[in-house]
Order: sequence, then C-alpha cells, then structure tokens
Amino acid sequence: MSAKNFYVTTPIYYVNDKPHIGHAYTTILADVIARFHRSNNQPVFFLTGLDEHGQKVQQAAEKRGMDPQAHCDDLAPRFLQLWERLEIRYDDFIRTTEDRHQTIVQKVLQDVYDKGDIYTDEYEGWYSVSEERFITEKEKDSGEFRDVKRIKEKNYFFKMSKYQQQLIDHINANPGFIQPEHRKNEILGFLREPLNDLCISRPKARMSWGIDLPFDADYVTYVWFDALLNYVSAPGYGSDENKFQTWWPANVHLIGKDILTTHCVYWPTMLMAMGVELPTTVFAHGWWLMGESKMSKSLGNVVSPLDLIEEYGVDAVRYYLMSEMVLGQDASFTIESFIKRFNSDLANDFGNLLNRVCGLIGKYFEAKVPQPGEHTAEDRAIIDQAVALETEVTRHIDKLQIHSAIFAILDLVGKTNRYMEHEAPWKVAKEDLTRAGTILYVATESLRVAAHHLSPVMPARCGKVRGILGAADSGAAWGELKPGTELPAPEALFPRLEMPGV
Ligand code: ME8
Ligand code: MG
Repeated sequence: MSAKNFYVTTPIYYVNDKPHIGHAYTTILADVIARFHRSNNQPVFFLTGLDEHGQKVQQAAEKRGMDPQAHCDDLAPRFLQLWERLEIRYDDFIRTTEDRHQTIVQKVLQDVYDKGDIYTDEYEGWYSVSEERFITEKEKDSGEFRDVKRIKEKNYFFKMSKYQQQLIDHINANPGFIQPEHRKNEILGFLREPLNDLCISRPKARMSWGIDLPFDADYVTYVWFDALLNYVSAPGYGSDENKFQTWWPANVHLIGKDILTTHCVYWPTMLMAMGVELPTTVFAHGWWLMGESKMSKSLGNVVSPLDLIEEYGVDAVRYYLMSEMVLGQDASFTIESFIKRFNSDLANDFGNLLNRVCGLIGKYFEAKVPQPGEHTAEDRAIIDQAVALETEVTRHIDKLQIHSAIFAILDLVGKTNRYMEHEAPWKVAKEDLTRAGTILYVATESLRVAAHHLSPVMPARCGKVRGILGAADSGAAWGELKPGTELPAPEALFPRLEMPGV
C-alpha cells in the first residue's frame, strides 16, 4: 500500500426497509479494508450512507402512511445503530436528502445542462416500475422485469451515448477499473451494443420524491443521477475544493453485482461530462445466498444481522462474513458453516493458542512473559513466517482478497500450534527452563503478530488478545512483546459453539 490517501465507499442503501445481512456485508467489508489501510498509517476516508429519494422509498413511505422525509428520518437510525453494533468506523455518513448533497446534485445538473449534454425529448417506451427505468424491447421480452408499463412522456436525457467510446477506451486502458475480471467483460459486452442516452428526469405528476431539476420545476431528478453523486458531494466536490483534492479519485467503490451497470456505465459517463477524473476501481462482489437461494424478503429467508450479533457476538459475525466469501463469487450462508468456521478457526486454532501460552506461562514462569534465548531452526521458521506476514497481508488486501489475507494469518496460527506440539515446552520446562521460555516467547509473539493483523476483521476480540499480552498498541514487527509482562489468568475468548438442535 502506498502512503497516499485512501478513499473507500459502500453503496448508499435504500431506506425502504431495515438493513439485512447483505447490506451489513458490504459495509463490514469497507470497514475491514479501511482499518487495514489505517493500520498501515494511511489517511483514510470511508464513506457510507443512505439513498433516500426515488420511487422505492416513496412507495415504502406510502405503505406506512407516512410522509417520505418522516419515513426516512424514522428508518435512518436503524442503519446507524446497526453500524455501531457492527463496529463500523466510517468517516462520513451521507443522506441524499441533506442540503449539502441536494445543492451539489443541482449544480451538476445545471453544469451538464449548460454544457449541452442534457436535452429534452418526447419518449415512448417500456418502463419497469421495479427497476425504475426505461427498458429496451429486448429486456422486456426477457421476462426478467416486473411491473412493466408503456409510458409516453416528455423527459430530460443525458447524452450518455456521446461517451461510449471514451468509456470503452478507459476500461481497456485501465484493467483494474472494473473488478473482478468477469464483471469487466460483462460491461465490455454490454458496450458492444450502441449505448442509449439516459433518462434523468421524472415528471412530478408521476413521482415527486426527488431533487428538483434546476431548469424545470415540473420534474425531479432520476434517483440514480442523484444517488451516484454522493461519492463526490460527501468529499467536498463543488463546496470544498481542498478536501475534494485530498480524497478524489476514490480508490474503490465497493458494490454488489446488482448495481454494476449504474456504477460502471452511468457513473463514469456522468463524471466524463462533469470533467472529473474516474474512480480507480469499482469492485462488484457476489451474493450472499441462503443455502441455495437468493436472500430476499419475499422468500422470507432474510438473516437479521442484529439477531446474529446477539447470539454469537459481533467479531464472530465479521469473521464469518469476511472469511467465507471469496470476493467476487457468491457465497452461501448457513448456520452450520458459521459454527464450523468459528470452531475450527477461532476456538480450535486462535483461542486454543492463546489459552495454551497463557496457561503454560502461568504455570512455569509465574505468569510473566519469559525472556527468549538462542533460536533454533524451528523458531526461525515461525519468526520468518510472522515477519513475512505483513507483506503478504498487504498484497492480498491490495487485491481485495480479504479471505486470502485471513487464510495467511490463520496459517501462521496453525503452524504455531503445531510448533508448540512439536517443541512441547511443558516437557522441556522440566529440564531446560531457558529453552522452554524461548519456545513460549516465540509462540506468544507469533500470536500477538497474528492478532495485530487480524484486528481489522475482529477489532474487539483482537484488541482484547493484544491487551492480555500487554501489547495493545503494538505493530507488525517481531519482538514488540515485552519479556516480564504479566499475563492475566486465561479467559476463554473463543469458546466452542454448539450446533443448534444437536
Ligand atoms: O441498490 N448479498 O441500494 P440497496 C450481498 N440505493 N450483498 C447484498 C445483498 C446480498 N444478498 N443484498 C444487498 C441500492 N446487498 C442503491 C445503491 S449507490 C450510489 C445506490 C448489498 O439498498 C450490495 O452491496 O438495494 C448491494 O449492491 C447493495 O446491498 C444494494 O443495496
Ligand atoms: Mg436493491
């Protein structure tokens, strides 16, 4: 990681319902990445927030018999509370109904209009109410769209087609722009067909919950032309040039694959029209499935993140979500895999190592971290692996391969457990206390280094482990564990979980 500033975003979620595990996932992912970068002393700006305009939100408010703003104000705290429970350390939280955002959306609309990239036209076509956009004849025939209506009306259009070739060139010249690779190919495939202009207005007579077009009071802005701009309005575009220069372009927009087109076609062409640099990377992750099927409210299989935290603790939830999904692919959520993952990695490996070293140091060294002596080849192997971990973890994080970073850290923990079995300090202690002390120092220091690297994933429990080792603020370097540090009596931080119903 370079020491350059790092700016990461999540999608801004629709305020039409309470957040579920999918929303929690992307937000935890952004938080983990932000924490990794902060721990490398990089200045970080982590933005998340809420998408409060548009038809979905208006309909959700109507259903509750509420005014849309009151509905948003009522639901927004549920997101904030969940982020707090999940230990999400965002730097800014934007709501699209805030003045600071609405002002910028209107400014951009006026600028793009003045530039001649927005025009008005009478348009007749198929409109998908659920997708909130006009769809092509071909899309309509695919049968994938619900609530399709024939609509004929005057609207405003953004000249998206004008930027088609420029976008294709950008994608080809910047292979890291759309990740993973198969999503890039999907977008390039989409761009092989002529790109339509984008309808960016909604007549108030049909849908009024949005930002007024500055050049026509009978219309509001299409929700996506509003929402995407949060990524620049929050860091000061058009309001605080210094701040904007500090953070833009964003290093990575994290999104789910459902909103790939809006982020990889609408957004970059909007930025081109604005004359603003494009984000470095848009990364689209896969779906969390419930067993085999997609998690959805209508199927009634939505997992509540709060229930999970209640039952298993926040760190266990963060650990599971980060280690179980290979970024870019779908993953299946089951309680069985949750418990299996917890028991094998955290109870049997990480927690077990902590209990062992604390117990043995308690028994043979009056609970004080021993002074290490001469190192053997076996010690060296552990030390070398622990030292190499920093580069390895950084390499994985830079590629957004969180599960690989976790795997590398857990590999050190597993090797250290096997080292303990092989070196058997409880036997050695009877003849050679100095050697036993060296073994226990190496194992404990290796655990501390692992806890340091795992902290972004499990801030609370890794903080506790490092606290127990008297090294709360220690870093990645070998040898920061101080001999003589008194360890408290072992405490089971990762007790084994039972399978429900067993
Ligand atoms: O699309 N698995 O908001 P949204 C993984 N407001 N991730 C999931 C998921 C699942 N089953 N379900 C949801 C919107 N997500 C717009 C975004 S951005 C300028 C505007 C996550 O509330 C994933 O990140 O429908 C997905 O892209 C996002 O929630 C969609 O949230
Ligand atoms: Mg959605």
